[in-house]
Amino acid sequence: MSFRFDPLSDSICEDPYPLYRQLRDEAPVHWSPEARLYCISRYDDVLATLKDTETFSSAAMLTVLTRAIEVPITPRHVLMLLRFLLKTRLNPLRFPKAGSMISFDPPRHEVVRKIVSRGFTPRSVAAWQPRVQSLVDELIAGIADQPRFDLVEEFAVPLPTTLIAEVLGIEPERRNDFKRWTNALLGLASGKPIAVLIDSGLTESIGELYAFIREQVRERRGRPQDDLISILVDPKLGEVLDEVDVIQFVCLLLVAGNETTTNLIGNAVCALLDRPDQVELALGEPACIPNLVEEAVRFDSPVQMVFRTATRDVEVAGTTIPRGAEVACMLASANRDERQFENPDVFDATRDTTGHLGFGFGVHFCLGASLARLEAGTALAGLIPMLQSFERSGRASEPLNSILVRGRTLIELSAKKSEPVAPSP
Ligand code: HEM
Repeated sequence: MSFRFDPLSDSICEDPYPLYRQLRDEAPVHWSPEARLYCISRYDDVLATLKDTETFSSAAMLTVLTRAIEVPITPRHVLMLLRFLLKTRLNPLRFPKAGSMISFDPPRHEVVRKIVSRGFTPRSVAAWQPRVQSLVDELIAGIADQPRFDLVEEFAVPLPTTLIAEVLGIEPERRNDFKRWTNALLGLASGKPIAVLIDSGLTESIGELYAFIREQVRERRGRPQDDLISILVDPKLGEVLDEVDVIQFVCLLLVAGNETTTNLIGNAVCALLDRPDQVELALGEPACIPNLVEEAVRFDSPVQMVFRTATRDVEVAGTTIPRGAEVACMLASANRDERQFENPDVFDATRDTTGHLGFGFGVHFCLGASLARLEAGTALAGLIPMLQSFERSGRASEPLNSILVRGRTLIELSAKKSEPVAPSP
């Protein structure tokens, strides 16, 4: 294989899809020496990998993401770690047993997934619907009359972050702190060098977040309320999570649920701006919006890839992946595979999107998919009527600098200037 592909940096480019197509055609299992990853790019192979949890462990969801961050251990960093442990009063001996469910394998994964699923039943998601609608209405009221606005900052970021804070039961007076802590956590998941993050006050913020969740857990244990943290620690509902597991889970939700939803909304709007006929279609037939959301997840997947570790030597598409090697399952490439989807590079809200892998597949299938669908569907129903009178404008829109998530840092829209009316003779 002659060309070079580094999934941890090349996927950040403006348009990775031609490269993904080349991979599928010429090297469906490509070894990237830069990223130290085997990249699996065809739909059938990605699906088979996600299904086979015995051969492909999710451990790499933690190891690949943390090795992407360079960790220079200096005396100053040790001091910061000690201050962090003091502030959070967490027991460091508990850490080796902890971790995030996204990196657990069966049967341990099943135990945690069963507990946290209690918070994401169809009933809970239906109960959040009125609040999602009122938030979308409030945010649209804030932008609709402006001549120019940034869709990311003024709409797509505040929608999921506000909602998740409310779902977790965070009191209104702590919401600003919660927002600051969420941003710090997203910084940690961005793949930036750890030294840069520490200098920006990241450990302070994350320490505060840990201490705060710990307090919340203690409060809810004695007096369960109507919120997600209570559902995780109320023994009347069955098995419960301990303090460290709740902290890990809340952090996972903040990372897995916010940026993904923000960029689904942003990517969908960008796709629609390129296809005015699809805007018209949705205006005429609002019932197609749920399928439009699925098509947006397929067409420009917010989560471009997930990682796995091979637990034995295994052959995929004629290439042997050795035991212990780490693998990138290229979800976004699988979703553009012409072997699976007809005209995959065309955004078509009427297509049959069944089987797309944008929310993953199998035991780790996105826990928040119904919530993401609700948020994006409600958001697009509110935004689509505006898209005929707004256009892209002004400042350049940069691709997000993230290893996993594809989206834009800025989507500036401005009101279209109405055509000057010719003076009557
Ligand atoms: C457009 C929005 C979203 C996309 C594209 C997305 C995508 C994904 C994907 C691809 C996975 C599978 C990871 C793997 O196989 O290793 C996943 C897992 C997960 N997602 Fe989402 N997600 C979204 C929104 C959300 C939201 C809103 C939440 C919660 C509030 C959430 C919570 C989770 C959790 C907890 C997992 C781990 C599940 C497990 O390990 O069993 N996600 N997501």
